[in-house]
Amino acid sequence: MNSNPIGIFDSGVGGLTVCKAIRELMPSEHLIYFGDTARFPYGTRSLDTIIRYSREIADFLLSRNVKMIVVACNTASAVALKTLQGEIKVPVVGVIEAGARAACRAQDNGIVGVVATRATVNSLSYEKAILEINPNMRVIQRHATIFVSLTEEGWVDDDITRLAADKYLRGMYNEGVRTLILGCTHFPLLKNAIHSVFPEMVLVDSGYEIALEIKRMLKEKNLENLRNDGVVELYASDITDTLQRLKDMFFGENGSGIHKMIIDSRV
Ligand code: DGL
Repeated sequence: MNSNPIGIFDSGVGGLTVCKAIRELMPSEHLIYFGDTARFPYGTRSLDTIIRYSREIADFLLSRNVKMIVVACNTASAVALKTLQGEIKVPVVGVIEAGARAACRAQDNGIVGVVATRATVNSLSYEKAILEINPNMRVIQRHATIFVSLTEEGWVDDDITRLAADKYLRGMYNEGVRTLILGCTHFPLLKNAIHSVFPEMVLVDSGYEIALEIKRMLKEKNLENLRNDGVVELYASDITDTLQRLKDMFFGENGSGIHKMIIDSRV
């Protein structure tokens, strides 16, 4: 038993989808979420910058005595996970491998699609993780930067979003993709829009998959909080309208307040 908090971080608000999944599956855990809203997005930044930002946030979470760090951000998981795992004593988990495992289980035609940010796609992290599980799998990737902006705008189930889904995903659909990894924290919010264009597509939410794995891992390592005093603390590097809106959507208007935490002034 370990009642220390679980630290979760993301480039911004999207990781609240992961935070919510962890909260629902493990309501007795104390969660500390950090969203780097002032430096969002990560998906178009260089590898060095993403690693530097991730280290700074991990230091903040460690200063709060977290028992584990969850890299909820697909881009940071793709680019910085190995570095953090090599430097930090507590377990550090990312979303890529959990998503890859779930997609390999879900597919039935040997083809998996991945839709993610440019940095995640360029890192080939999903492809490597999938091929490690099954070297015969065919992986088709597409970056979909506009999906991020559409989600931030709140246009999660809108004509323009369905049009973007068709534009981004039609090519991989025609090549046989019927199992698609939503490889960005924002994309689970677009499930309805994607399904209305591609009704038979199986959508894999990497954030939900890592939440399931964390629950098993805490039990196995005897790290569960059995005191039943779960609470969610939210920190962000800037308090934006989108953050406030999504926080209210996920945790209710009476949920946790958001604390502003400047991680580094060199934004
Ligand atoms: N959290 C990021 C991700 O999952 C959202 C997009 C971004 O920061 O560019 O990749």
